[in-house]
Amino acid sequence: MLPDGRDVTLMVNGTATEASVPSGEFLLDTLRNRLGLLSVKEGCQSAACGSCTVLVDGKPRLACITLTLDAVGVPARTVESLSTDLGAAMHPLQEAFARNYATQCGFCAPGMLMSALAVIESNTEQTEASIRRALSGNLCRCTGYVQIVRAIADASERMNGCHDQGGAEE
Ligand code: FES
Ligand code: FES
Repeated sequence: MLPDGRDVTLMVNGTATEASVPSGEFLLDTLRNRLGLLSVKEGCQSAACGSCTVLVDGKPRLACITLTLDAVGVPARTVESLSTDLGAAMHPLQEAFARNYATQCGFCAPGMLMSALAVIESNTEQTEASIRRALSGNLCRCTGYVQIVRAIADASERMNGCHDQGGAEE
């Protein structure tokens, strides 16, 4: 065990994982550096960009400001949970991002995908406005938001059969 650490069990992507974690460590560092989940991106480290967004208990959380000890025993999900087998079919949400050209450099994509997944899995009817609200904490600096909103509406329609069919606007 680390000198100031605690041995904890984290429930990440459906698997119980033991880790020794310093009490002040943030989930971003635990997921990337201890569990090797490199989809979780380190952008601003100050709750401003959304690139580190993961789901904790089904809700989007910024891993850069979430203490790992606050996530002990609570189900957490990263993009690695979407497609567990390289070469296997992508998750419908990832397919929708590809089909709608919703990534360029891809740095923001993991955070976008997890914010989008939370709203799609809420299984409520999505509108362009509700999708934009769900993405309000996620910044993209190269694709822009039109294709991303279209992709999420597309995925919502295919996965839940509901969205307002409205065209995304700049
Ligand atoms: S790295 Fe967490 S919000 Fe930017
Ligand atoms: S695709 Fe490059 S920041 Fe969004």
